[in-house]
Amino acid sequence: MTQPTDPPGAQILLDRGELEATVARLGREVTEAYAPGDHPEGIVMVAVLKGAVIFLADLLRHIEVAAEVEFLAISAFQPDSGRVRIVKDLEVDIAGRHVVLVEDVVDTGLSLAYLLGELRRRGPASLEVCTLLDKQGRRILPVPIRFCGRALHDEFVIGYGLDFAGRYRNLDVVAVADPRLLAADPDTYVTSLYGRPGPSEAR
Ligand code: IMP
Ligand code: MG
Repeated sequence: MTQPTDPPGAQILLDRGELEATVARLGREVTEAYAPGDHPEGIVMVAVLKGAVIFLADLLRHIEVAAEVEFLAISAFQPDSGRVRIVKDLEVDIAGRHVVLVEDVVDTGLSLAYLLGELRRRGPASLEVCTLLDKQGRRILPVPIRFCGRALHDEFVIGYGLDFAGRYRNLDVVAVADPRLLAADPDTYVTSLYGRPGPSEAR
């Protein structure tokens, strides 16, 4: 007779403290790059929905220059069609503005390359990328990344905005998950990750 097994745990890649330190460092780097003397009109932070929203919210509070906030959403990349599409566009004209595109993770670079091309055509004064996570080794298209939180290999990660099938975005950590287990059952990590003791209960 087989015994019931515990649900598999996911390995925590960045805990709350590591996320806070990483985001604070990125905030300082952005602040230093856009000194008010050279950028009196401030910057436009463009976050890509939905994954970058939590990162953006924390990052903004560490940026000490004037920053506007905009959102973009693209359709999922279709490998067969070879293209993505903007499904929610910016609400401001970025011509002549200093723009920072904020991403949760850059993987193949296909979505980002498309977005950078689209935004560049609008004539920004400058256009840089700030990503929390960067899977450099998986790149299909090269994309310039000015501000990077943490390099990854090819791990699939969830939490802190990153999802699988809409789940796990609201975890306050980034965890490495097994994509095969998730494909079989998207709720694989719900018990182990949402049941974690908080910092004050951990021993
Ligand atoms: P790319 O076009 O391959 O660079 O894919 C980027 C998008 O794929 C990201 O913005 C995420 O939405 C998604 N993605 C890539 N890797 C991961 C991951 O490890 N976890 C969750 N989503 C991911
Ligand atoms: Mg994304």
